[in-house]
Amino acid sequence: MKKPKLVVANWKMNLSVHQASLLVNKLDKKVQPHRSVEVVLAPSYLCLQPLSHEIDRRKFRLAAQDGYPIDGGAYTGAISFNQLRDLVHYAIIGHSERRRYFNEGLELVRDKMASAVRNNILPILCVGETWEERNLKETKIVLHDQVITALSNLTSEDMQDMVIAYEPVWAIGGHDPAKPEDIARAVEWIRYQVKDLYGQKAADNVRILYGGSDEPEFVSSIMEVDGIDGLLVGHASLDSQQFADIIEGVYLSALGRGEG
Ligand code: 13P
Repeated sequence: MKKPKLVVANWKMNLSVHQASLLVNKLDKKVQPHRSVEVVLAPSYLCLQPLSHEIDRRKFRLAAQDGYPIDGGAYTGAISFNQLRDLVHYAIIGHSERRRYFNEGLELVRDKMASAVRNNILPILCVGETWEERNLKETKIVLHDQVITALSNLTSEDMQDMVIAYEPVWAIGGHDPAKPEDIARAVEWIRYQVKDLYGQKAADNVRILYGGSDEPEFVSSIMEVDGIDGLLVGHASLDSQQFADIIEGVYLSALGRGEG
C-alpha cells in the first residue's frame, strides 16, 4: 500500500504555549482527517507536553524541531531524543537554520539521525543548498554530502520510515518556492543517493517532502512533481486557514493521482 502523504508544520521559534494551544484549537475545527494524508505539528519544545494532551490523534501527530544526540548527562540547556521519545513521533533534523545559526555540521546531523532512530523517533532529515551553492552549480554535491553523511550510521531497516525534506535555503521564508523542475531534479538525485546506499527498496520507501515558501496557491504544482510525498511548511503553517488549505490541497492532489 502507498504510504500517506505527509504535511509537516514547522512552527520554528514562534508561538507561546497559549498561542500554540489556540492554533491547535482552530486547526482542529478546520482540518478533516484523511487516511491518505498524515499531518504533523512541530511546535517548540515547550509546547510538546501540553499539546500531547490536547491534539486529536486521529488528525495530528507531534514532531520535535531538533534533539541532542547524547541520551542524558551534563549538557546544560539540551534536550535529548531520549527525553523526547514518548512525546513525539517525528523529529526534524538538520534544518538549515540549525546548520546556519547553530553551526551544526554534517557529523552532528549524522549523530542526531542515529540517536533519533535509536530512540524510536522517525527523523525528518532536511537537506538543501544555499543561493551561493546553487549559483556555483554545487547543488548536487551539497545534497550528496548532506544525505550520505546523515544516513551513514543507519541500517537499511532504519530506512523503512525515513523522511527527507528538500529545502533549498534560498526558497525559505519567502513567497516564491523553487520551480517544479528544480524540485524534480533534487528529488530524483536524493532518491538516487538513498538507492546507492541502501538499495531500491529503501529508495522506494523514503518519503521526500518539499519545503520553502509552501503556500496554498503552490500546493498543486509542487505535489505534481514526480516523487514528492508531501510538504514541510514554515510560515504558512502559523495561519490556521492557510495550513488547512494546504492540507486539503495535498489531499486533493493525492486523490487526483488515485491515491486518496
Ligand atoms: P517557509 O515555509 O516559511 O519558507 O519555511 C520553510 C521551512 O523552513 C520549513 O522547515
